[in-house]
Amino acid sequence: MYFSRPITALAAGISSVCAAVLPRQMNTTAVANTTTSTNTTLPPLSLDSDPFIIRARQLNDSSVTLGYMYAEYAYGAGYYATLRPKDEAIVGHLTDTTNPSNSSLVFGDEYPQGFVLYPLLSYANSSIAQIYSGQEGTKGLLVNEGGIVDWATQRVSWFACNQSLEYGPATAIWYRWMNVTTPRNCVDVLLIAEPV
Ligand SMILES: *[C@@H]1O[C@H](CO)[C@@H](O)[C@H](O)[C@H]1NC(C)=O
Ligand SMILES: *[C@@H]1O[C@H](CO)[C@@H](O)[C@H](O)[C@H]1NC(C)=O
Ligand SMILES: *[C@@H]1O[C@H](CO)[C@@H](O)[C@H](O)[C@H]1NC(C)=O
Ligand SMILES: *[C@@H]1O[C@H](CO)[C@@H](O)[C@H](O)[C@H]1NC(C)=O
Ligand SMILES: *[C@@H]1O[C@H](CO)[C@@H](O)[C@H](O)[C@H]1NC(C)=O
Ligand SMILES: *[C@@H]1O[C@H](CO)[C@@H](O)[C@H](O)[C@H]1NC(C)=O
Ligand SMILES: *[C@@H]1O[C@H](CO)[C@@H](O)[C@H](O)[C@H]1NC(C)=O
Ligand SMILES: *[C@@H]1O[C@H](CO)[C@@H](O)[C@H](O)[C@H]1NC(C)=O
Repeated sequence: MYFSRPITALAAGISSVCAAVLPRQMNTTAVANTTTSTNTTLPPLSLDSDPFIIRARQLNDSSVTLGYMYAEYAYGAGYYATLRPKDEAIVGHLTDTTNPSNSSLVFGDEYPQGFVLYPLLSYANSSIAQIYSGQEGTKGLLVNEGGIVDWATQRVSWFACNQSLEYGPATAIWYRWMNVTTPRNCVDVLLIAEPV
């Protein structure tokens, strides 16, 4: 696991342990082969730059929605990306809809909160997804033609885990290398951008 703070910040129980925007990518070359492509309901086509919320759908069952992305307060300016009911969803947008490698996912408007993913490494091959107040998000975030949130920088798969966080139980969003096994108490998900 890869945290910006001690691992003890998270309750144990996860042996290893996902994210979002709505602009549609115009450069399909750049977004090719980056997604955990599973068919999903396609949002309308006019999503460029539009604000969106992010729904976590169970990967192997399109009828199951586990929640919508929320910024769960953790410490200082740091938040974990978690799942909550739709009416608590945070609204995000992509900072660059034409160039995924320059694009980050940012929530809020006046006080932006960047969606942050640390690069995965052999000894930290999965990580919880974070959100930082007043910071830019990690570059490479995109929404592909299927409306699915993906990270162009590394091929990752998202999963969600019920666990204890700083201030109690929550369903956290994680990401892992494709060849890493999802922990037994967690569920693989697709992150789907829905226009608001
Ligand atoms: C599309 O993206 C690819 C890969 O990043 C890049 O090589 C190419 O120049 C881009 N095409 C356009 C029209 O921006
Ligand atoms: C994407 O994947 C397909 C099928 O595996 C492959 O034929 C194609 O060359 C890949 N495209 C890129 C840009 O890697
Ligand atoms: C996904 O959708 C495409 C186009 O509708 C279809 O051809 C393909 O069979 C579908 N794949 C799966 C796994 O359902
Ligand atoms: C990257 O995106 C920012 C907007 O977030 C834009 O101002 C900048 O020109 C872009 N840089 C490149 C190299 O496309
Ligand atoms: C978390 O727990 C709730 C309530 O038991 C359950 O409905 C949900 O599917 C669980 N989510 C995950 C990711 O395990
Ligand atoms: C798992 O995937 C990562 C990223 O693609 C790669 O760097 C690593 O070597 C792979 N590990 C194994 C054991 O296959
Ligand atoms: C991922 O990391 C865990 C813990 O360090 C390790 O046991 C596992 O072999 C790694 N998997 C891959 C595919 O690198
Ligand atoms: C679908 O995923 C859930 C959660 O990871 C798992 O419990 C279930 O066995 C999977 N079902 C199938 C048919 O693979």
